[in-house]
Formats: sequence, structure tokens, C-alpha cells
Amino acid sequence: MCKKCWSFAIVLLILLSGMTYKFIFQGSVKISNDGRLAIQLEQPEKDLVMSEMRAFLVAIQQITDGILKQDMQAIAKSARSVGLTTQRSVPGSLIGKLPIKFKKMGMDTHNQLDTLALDAIELEDSEHTLSQLNTLMQNCITCHAIYKFEVNN
Ligand code: HEC
Repeated sequence: MCKKCWSFAIVLLILLSGMTYKFIFQGSVKISNDGRLAIQLEQPEKDLVMSEMRAFLVAIQQITDGILKQDMQAIAKSARSVGLTTQRSVPGSLIGKLPIKFKKMGMDTHNQLDTLALDAIELEDSEHTLSQLNTLMQNCITCHAIYKFEVNN
């Protein structure tokens, strides 16, 4: 291949890896004044993620209620409603703005809720459910401590 073509190919490769890094790993973030990383989103994107968050909170309350009442079916139903299997598809533009660590923690939380649902039915042990809830809520705390959302207009 000619010298120029090589340089062109190398420049392309650098650009491509930069874009891959930006899209897959870094997301769209700024350091915010409270020390957290502020993920920059459009208003409808923020609305979508926040509605998921409120669904998380509702499910956590319902699971706690189910533990108190020893109602394993209700526990499984609530946990499944916010599990990975029932997630609506997230637009690609939003995926690109979320840092990889955020996505991993989000997926892991949905996954843990699916496991909690399965175990509730299979093991019928509310103590076990409580301990799973305790563990998965560490994700809520960790993620909220690191990230926030900012709407850029
Ligand atoms: C992967 C990261 C992540 C995880 C995991 C996560 N959250 Fe959030 N959540 C956020 C961010 C970011 C915000 C916005 C905070 C801000 O802008 O100050 C938020 C906001 C919220 C809100 C406010 C919603 C509103 O409408 O104002 C609730 C409630 C909430 N989360 C509940 C939860 C619960 C319960 C869990 C665990 C089951 C959880 N979240 C797990 C990132 C996460």
C-alpha cells in the first residue's frame, strides 16, 4: 500500500478508536459542583431513566411488603417487573451517553432482581429474599453517590 494510504488508514483507525471509546466507555459526562459525575442528557432521555428509577423504588417497597406478609408470589411479581427480561428497549442515543460503569451497575441491578424473583418462588425463604434485597440496594447507593443527570438545552 502507498505511504499516503497508510497514513490515511492510521488516522481513520485513531478516529475510530476514539469514537468507540467515547460511545462505549466514557459516555457524556461532566464533573458537577457536588463532586458527582453529571451525565448530560436530553429531557426526554432523563424522563425515561427517572421513570425507571421510580419503578425501582415502587418494586423495593412491594418486595419489603411481600417479605413482611410472606407472600412470595407478590415478591416475584414485583421483582420481575423491574428485571432485565421486562425492560423496554433503550434508544441507542441514550446508550451512548451513559458511561460503561453506569450501564454495568444498571444491568447488574436488573439481573439481581430477576434472581430474587426466581429464588422467591423456588426457595420460599423470605430471609434469603431480604438478604438479596440488602445486597442489591448497595447498587442504588453506589450509583447515586457517583452519578447525577443534567439536562443540556
Ligand atoms: C446505574 C445507576 C443507578 C442505579 C443502579 C440506581 N439509580 Fe436511581 N438514580 C440514578 C441517577 C443518576 C439518578 C438521578 C440523580 C440526580 O440527578 O441527582 C437517580 C434517581 C433516582 C430516583 C429519583 C427519581 C425522580 O423521579 O426524581 C429514585 C427514586 C431512584 N433513583 C431510585 C433508585 C433505586 C430504588 C435503586 C435501586 C433499586 C436505584 N435508583 C438504582 C442512578 C441509578
